[in-house]
Amino acid sequence: MSTKPDRYVVIGNPISHSKSPDIHARFAAQTGQQLVYERMLAPLEGFAQSVREFIREGGKGANVTVPFKLEAHALATELTARAQAAGAVNTLKFGNGVILGDNTDGIGMVTDIVRTANVPMHSKKILLLGAGGAARGVILPVLDEHPAELVIANRTESKAAELAAQFSRHGSVSASSFDTLRGRFDIIINATSASLSADLPPVPTTVFGDGAFAYDMMYGKEPTVFMRFAAAHGATVRDGLGMLVEQAAEAFFVWRSVRPDTAPVYAELRAGL
Ligand code: ATR
Repeated sequence: MSTKPDRYVVIGNPISHSKSPDIHARFAAQTGQQLVYERMLAPLEGFAQSVREFIREGGKGANVTVPFKLEAHALATELTARAQAAGAVNTLKFGNGVILGDNTDGIGMVTDIVRTANVPMHSKKILLLGAGGAARGVILPVLDEHPAELVIANRTESKAAELAAQFSRHGSVSASSFDTLRGRFDIIINATSASLSADLPPVPTTVFGDGAFAYDMMYGKEPTVFMRFAAAHGATVRDGLGMLVEQAAEAFFVWRSVRPDTAPVYAELRAGL
């Protein structure tokens, strides 16, 4: 008996640039999973309808990208703890009438830093730059590593304060503006969207402690301005390409209960940038 392969999509607008189909095709080939993974362009006003239609056609799951992660959170009938904490959903799983919403971005970043880059977060002083959606998505997975402290610094300090208050029961987390930042940090994570416009968040050079590790969630062929700035002040730097691959691997695990090997996929993507 021949069965059709399970279908998955990445939904966004725009979507043509997404690397997710390439990544998941490699994961599927590597693990022997029978599946099809395609891009889906949803109209800006038609996200929920596009998802429902895909479910009716027998779709098994979806990744969700800009600008629909909040709508995906609202559409889900069940949410994982990390999706609730993130307030956004990047992974949907369909079955038995349930739309399960998950968020694998934060765990993807933590896996890339802790396992791939081999930089433990346990007992470390961590500085998170930014308080938008990208920052919020990583806070719970970072606190789950039990750092000594997490400081959230943002241009609009009130947004950092709101996040710190929201997550205070999960660990030692506080808020700051950029110009009142004091002390040195072991790990500095740029979750602002400043790199998109080649801007640098106005972080004091004194934040980079001895042997500091600086991470930018953005990635590209060349190091970001933030990475160049951090390297010039003695930090070891890494961009967010590994986060992209690891969030995909976690979504693949959510859907298929199989963990792909991310290293060769990361190497191929890096070579192709
Ligand atoms: P995302 O989903 O990428 O997180 P967002 O929710 O719009 O996008 O959040 C963007 C984040 O980048 C915010 O923390 C923003 O700071 P404000 O809250 O003060 O707006 C930050 N940001 C954007 N451009 C910046 C810049 N040039 N310098 C510093 N922070 C910047």
